[in-house]
Amino acid sequence: MPAAKVMLNLGALPPKQNATDMKKDGQNYPRTPSRTNPNAPPWPAYRGYHEYSFAHATMSVRLPTILGKGIADVHQTLNQESDEERITDLVACIHRMEDLMDDLTENSKLRPIIDDGAGDIPLWNKEIAKYFQGKDFMNAPWLFAEAYKYRRLRECFSLSKHWVEYDVFFRQKCDTFSRSATAVFELASRFAQPFKHADGLNDDEKLAANKLIFRELTQVCLWGNSTDLSLLIDMSEEDIKKLQSTGGEHLAATEKNILGNHLENLTNYVTSMKGGRIDFVLDNAGFELYCDFVYADWLIQSGICDQIVFHGKRLPWFVSDVTRKDWDWLLNSCVYGYLFSEASEADMDQLRLMGRRWKQYEKEGKWRYEQHPFWCTGYTFWDLHSEAPDVFLDLHKSDLVIFKGDLNHRKLTYDCHVPYATSFAEAIGPMASQPGAPRVCSLRTIKSDVVCGLPKDVGEKLDEEEAGWKISGKYAVILLSEGRPDEKVVFQ
Ligand code: F6P
Ligand code: MG
Repeated sequence: MPAAKVMLNLGALPPKQNATDMKKDGQNYPRTPSRTNPNAPPWPAYRGYHEYSFAHATMSVRLPTILGKGIADVHQTLNQESDEERITDLVACIHRMEDLMDDLTENSKLRPIIDDGAGDIPLWNKEIAKYFQGKDFMNAPWLFAEAYKYRRLRECFSLSKHWVEYDVFFRQKCDTFSRSATAVFELASRFAQPFKHADGLNDDEKLAANKLIFRELTQVCLWGNSTDLSLLIDMSEEDIKKLQSTGGEHLAATEKNILGNHLENLTNYVTSMKGGRIDFVLDNAGFELYCDFVYADWLIQSGICDQIVFHGKRLPWFVSDVTRKDWDWLLNSCVYGYLFSEASEADMDQLRLMGRRWKQYEKEGKWRYEQHPFWCTGYTFWDLHSEAPDVFLDLHKSDLVIFKGDLNHRKLTYDCHVPYATSFAEAIGPMASQPGAPRVCSLRTIKSDVVCGLPKDVGEKLDEEEAGWKISGKYAVILLSEGRPDEKVVFQ
């Protein structure tokens, strides 16, 4: 059952601001890195009470709706349980979710996370105590408030005895993948057979062929990010099909929607690599992860990489994000599953062939799945170097770190009112400027307010001509920062 309460009491909030005020304010920005903190980003933060922003729509309507759907999912699980101890334990989880719903809809102050023994508690509570004392869901920066809500959702289960790992979004994630047959088999039919160049090509021709394949696969991997369950609640099979068109014609038509586009430089760099390491900071499970796998598979088979490291989430996060369970589920479903009742035996064989190859990469250590707690905190990646130095040091060893999706982009850019034409390297701050910063690429379909790296006037023109262009998922960016990979990492 959907949530009953989705209205907010906005009585105690600061006065409304509009987009023009924010632009005027912008003259005092960016703040220097030493004056930047999670409550004071380099440019003004988006906050839930900014009524013109997607932050407002998310905090006041989307999050309560998502939570209501989560409660409905737990009801369904409860109805299928027979053991009394497990049932009463789950009832307590539901009560905690209802309390969270009250806090959200009544715009309560952000309290510390209850210590459930998890390793991320110090990171969370340090940040709350230092920057968000007395702040509530609507006046804390949107990015933090939204992440906090997902950590509180985890707390509803982590305090239980039997349901600590329960994922209220797992059913939806599996279901959407099983309704993605058309695009799944379209890709399988092209990439299942082991990759090899046509006979008789010389080295230049092979390089040219690699460039073409890489360009196309990068776009498959990019647009795979469109199927985001947090935005598209109750998608029809037809909607899914439209979002997942992976054919060449479709890709050519959508390339013009890539507003900030470093694909050329990215292609030249990646296709010059041999036996390197690429990291993916993953976004969504199911179809998007499947596209990431197809991409990573080709990077291994072409000899460009001999190692791919995938970074997933430790907790159910922003509805669709990949957890270890989603990762295992997808690999095993490709090999053993019966998800696609209408698929032919030949189609299924191709899917199994790919699935087996991918599992083999994992066994051989060519593919590695990591899930550091930092990825599920409210910190942006401006603080990766200081709050998770081990991750920074590890990423420094990579030849390229690809950040997938909208949320990762928000975290790279501090989710603030950065002017559209600001360069990507400037917008990601220390992730580009710290000694030892790796090469970073963002593959993002634009689904929320923060946008940078655009040619002059492009964003302003879209503001005038196309309302909602920043949340439609129709536009995208492929942005690259060269970083300072040849320098030694320094920690103060
Ligand atoms: O709730 C808003 C949001 O965080 C946006 O960043 C985006 O609309 C969505 O949720 C997540 O998108 P993605 O899965 O691409 O990070
Ligand atoms: Mg996501």
